[in-house]
Amino acid sequence: MSNERLFIFDTTLRDGEQVPGCQLSLSKKVKLAKKLAAMGVDVIEAGFPASGQEDFDSVVAISKEVSKTSICALTRAVEKDIDLAAEALRYATYKRIHTGIGTSEFHIQGKFRSTRDDILQRAIACVKYAKRYVEDVEFYAEDAGRTDNDYLARVVEAVIKAGATVINIPDTTGYCLPEEYGAKIRYLVENVTGIDKVTISTHCHNDLGLATANTIQGVLNGARQVEVTVNGIGERAGNTSLEEIVMIINSHKLPYLLDVKPVYISDLSNTVSSMMNMPVQPNKAIVGRNAFAHSSGIHQDGVIKDRSTYEIINPEDVGIDSNMIVLSARSGRAALKQHLKSFSVDIDNGKLDDVYKRFVELAERNKYFTNADVLKLVRKDYRKMQRYTLEYMQVTSGKEPIKPVASVGILDNDSLIEASATGSGPVDAVIRAINQAIVLKRDNDEGRKKLATFSIHAVESGSEVVGKAHISLNYDKRIFHGYAAHTDIIVASAEAYIDAINKISE
Ligand code: KIV
Ligand code: ZN
Repeated sequence: MSNERLFIFDTTLRDGEQVPGCQLSLSKKVKLAKKLAAMGVDVIEAGFPASGQEDFDSVVAISKEVSKTSICALTRAVEKDIDLAAEALRYATYKRIHTGIGTSEFHIQGKFRSTRDDILQRAIACVKYAKRYVEDVEFYAEDAGRTDNDYLARVVEAVIKAGATVINIPDTTGYCLPEEYGAKIRYLVENVTGIDKVTISTHCHNDLGLATANTIQGVLNGARQVEVTVNGIGERAGNTSLEEIVMIINSHKLPYLLDVKPVYISDLSNTVSSMMNMPVQPNKAIVGRNAFAHSSGIHQDGVIKDRSTYEIINPEDVGIDSNMIVLSARSGRAALKQHLKSFSVDIDNGKLDDVYKRFVELAERNKYFTNADVLKLVRKDYRKMQRYTLEYMQVTSGKEPIKPVASVGILDNDSLIEASATGSGPVDAVIRAINQAIVLKRDNDEGRKKLATFSIHAVESGSEVVGKAHISLNYDKRIFHGYAAHTDIIVASAEAYIDAINKISE
């Protein structure tokens, strides 16, 4: 039997964008939609046009700019909402209206002060109304997770008769257990006349940390569309994460065909995180900073000998450059040797014991240390391995109309380059100054370095507060990561930026 298609419906721009403080400008939404389309998602939910002019405009703009992917607009079961969605979608090549109503008793009695029969009629009416505008109508039964299965089946059967092409079964509150959610989908497959003519969709929220498990159970029981967001962002604890579903299907070789190309995952994750100013938790599956980093000695030794000892996913498959092993006081000799090798320092086993001893002392003394600190253990001329190093910097901050200004001195091997720049903030000023000092070969064409993500974490170390800066830099369509720690957060940011540039010029 051939594998069945599993459709990926991305709602980063609708459910994801509902996160307070994460609203995107129109141009950013279009940029993200283009990246999602390039990755190969099947449907982009571009917004909820009746919610305001901004959502309306973004559905129009995305419909104009993205022509090979289906564009979807959300509505309530309200004619005016549907009129607006149809109008916003008028330029879309492939268009879908996503309409629906709450079906649980919480919604019927609590929200609508209504009855099951009335809600059933409103469900039928909204699908019929949407059908006047578009062929592809998706119906959602809001809070289906807490809706009694018999009544849910009645509603679903009726909206299929009214013309719905996709049936969305949202676990709106993230309440269901995986077995329960899977059984709900199975119940519909087995009890609804006409269900074989439509696509069943999952839409799971992560309030109990079960969104991904529930989605997979939904698929195993008959759903053929999954509604997801990049990095699992969304209201409250978020939605099912796109990258987790794609990599579960791929890693387990589940029998479904996906159009999504996993190699885009890391770039999309970085883009969403930086556009929305939402750092990804370091231990987040697939896209967290530590998802492929091994800091315990036993693990590092195993990974260095053979990746598959501790890694079930090849980082390159999701677009991550290489296995970034994080050194710590618990790292073994093999990890240290491998780390030094990545800076072209080959160390024979005779010398390794001595270097290792000094490394453990360093790691125990300084909880946070840089690549340069490690390289100094083996080579006095470590600078030759790090082409660029920060010799000095000075930043003055200010409140408008005074602009922050930064001056930097950077050693390019042995020659000092000095530059200064103003910026919108102290970190921006220092990065601009570094960019003036370090001009890479392709900085003037499309290779130009662009900051993809930037996050700072303050960590207490004894009586000091240490700032850890992580930077991802886009250069020549590749991502380079830089890291540094320092008691001065601006110095940490500058060194992390230079660390990433050194990786480009390696
Ligand atoms: O969670 C939910 O129920 C939704 C619907 C509006 C589809 O986002
Ligand atoms: Zn939702």
